Amino acid sequence: MPENCEASGLRGDMIMNGGGKQLVNIEEEYNNKDSLPALYVHWPWCISKCPYCDFNSHVRRVFDEADYVRAICREIDYLIETSDELVEGSNDRPRLGSIFFGGGTPSLMRADTVERILAHAACRFDFADDIEITLEANPSSVEARGFADLAKAGVNRLSLGVQALDDEALKVLGRAHGVEEALQAIRLADRYFGRMSFDVIYARHGQKLRDWQQELHRVIDLAGGHLSLYQLTIEEGTKYKNLYDRGELDLPDNDRAARFFHTTREICGQAGLPAYEVSNHAVPGQESRHNLVYWRYGICYGVGPGAHGRLLKAGRRMATMAIRSPKRWIDQVNRCGHGFESMEVLEPQQQADEILLMGMRLSEGVDLQRLYDLTGCCLDSGAVDALIEAELVLLSPDKRFLRATDAGFSVLNGVIENLSLALQRNQGTSESSRVIDISCQ
Ligand SMILES: C[S@@+](CC[C@H](N)C(=O)[O-])C[C@H]1O[C@@H](n2cnc3c(N)ncnc32)[C@H](O)[C@@H]1O
Ligand code: SF4
Repeated sequence: MPENCEASGLRGDMIMNGGGKQLVNIEEEYNNKDSLPALYVHWPWCISKCPYCDFNSHVRRVFDEADYVRAICREIDYLIETSDELVEGSNDRPRLGSIFFGGGTPSLMRADTVERILAHAACRFDFADDIEITLEANPSSVEARGFADLAKAGVNRLSLGVQALDDEALKVLGRAHGVEEALQAIRLADRYFGRMSFDVIYARHGQKLRDWQQELHRVIDLAGGHLSLYQLTIEEGTKYKNLYDRGELDLPDNDRAARFFHTTREICGQAGLPAYEVSNHAVPGQESRHNLVYWRYGICYGVGPGAHGRLLKAGRRMATMAIRSPKRWIDQVNRCGHGFESMEVLEPQQQADEILLMGMRLSEGVDLQRLYDLTGCCLDSGAVDALIEAELVLLSPDKRFLRATDAGFSVLNGVIENLSLALQRNQGTSESSRVIDISCQ
């Protein structure tokens, strides 16, 4: 156990020293594979704007694809030069375990655009032999026709935005595709990609729990090894927010929403796709390696308009945030070699908060040893005991992982808030946050 934790009043068995036995099989799967850094590439355009969506997506393209490729490559170069996450034995190039093309609608990209970005990334990074390369796709017929070429370009995992298996619901969600097109896209994705996932939104306008149960069974029948199932969230600044404020959306209250959530986890678990994160379900071993990097607080290089990243610089963890507007982003890349709005060295307390925020979403929970190793922070044992007593969290048998219970997942934000208040910082970790000057002429 880290000595400083004992000094801070943490119960002796609260943090196990590293090198202990694995807890359950799923963790065995995660370890080793998922500690490698990840690269996220943001594609900011869509055919139309869905009324519920607040992602950084724009309908009007303001520059051409060749300029986009050049700018992405320049940002990768800039980050490599800025980061010191160099892995031993890899010719001093950082080793990547995953790449994710997210959006927006990256399936609108030409396959040669994807190919050129991957070729450039391969020059600047070392790729793990089994690197996971995911691309988000919308299931319209036009995009599905491009799947074979995207696979040839190197994409080996497709994340398909099916959203619903109900034509009326797809209309209300403002989607440009129908169920038949989605089914066709699933068949093609199955043919061309080694791995596939789909996104479905539930607890939708007017949806009954029993209708969702039936739909979920059909979704599971069609699924590959992975499903992302999101409860509809009303986001600020969206058309849905206006409709919701005017009382024109019939959405479940908190109790019914909790029933949707737990039923979803139960049905997926019974079907062999247990939840490994709040909204993500997978056949063990088929989890998204890329997303696990975020949730386990690994290193992620984020490029493209609005992308976020977490890097190491001189041994310190740094947050990067790119400009959201595609036009302003590319102008700055052309001028400065990067489109970042900010780069900030995070203080230990900020990192600890982020570790809790991300890690408590996982079924495996937060690795307390890692929390300590990265930040020097521990959790106050009294506060943790109170949450255990309330049956909202529990410790793994070897006490290394702290995880939410089923009841805890229903009130996860509150649990995380309490844990954040229970963070105790040890001496020697008083570094303050620092904004890095990235301005240019
Ligand atoms: C970047 S978007 C998806 C990519 C792709 N453009 C698409 O729409 O299929 C990622 C996923 O977030 C989910 N999502 C977006 N906004 C949401 C909201 N307000 N509530 C719940 N899920 C949402 C959708 O399932 C969507 O597929
Ligand atoms: S297609 Fe996807 S990213 Fe684009 S607006 Fe719709 S949900 Fe958002």
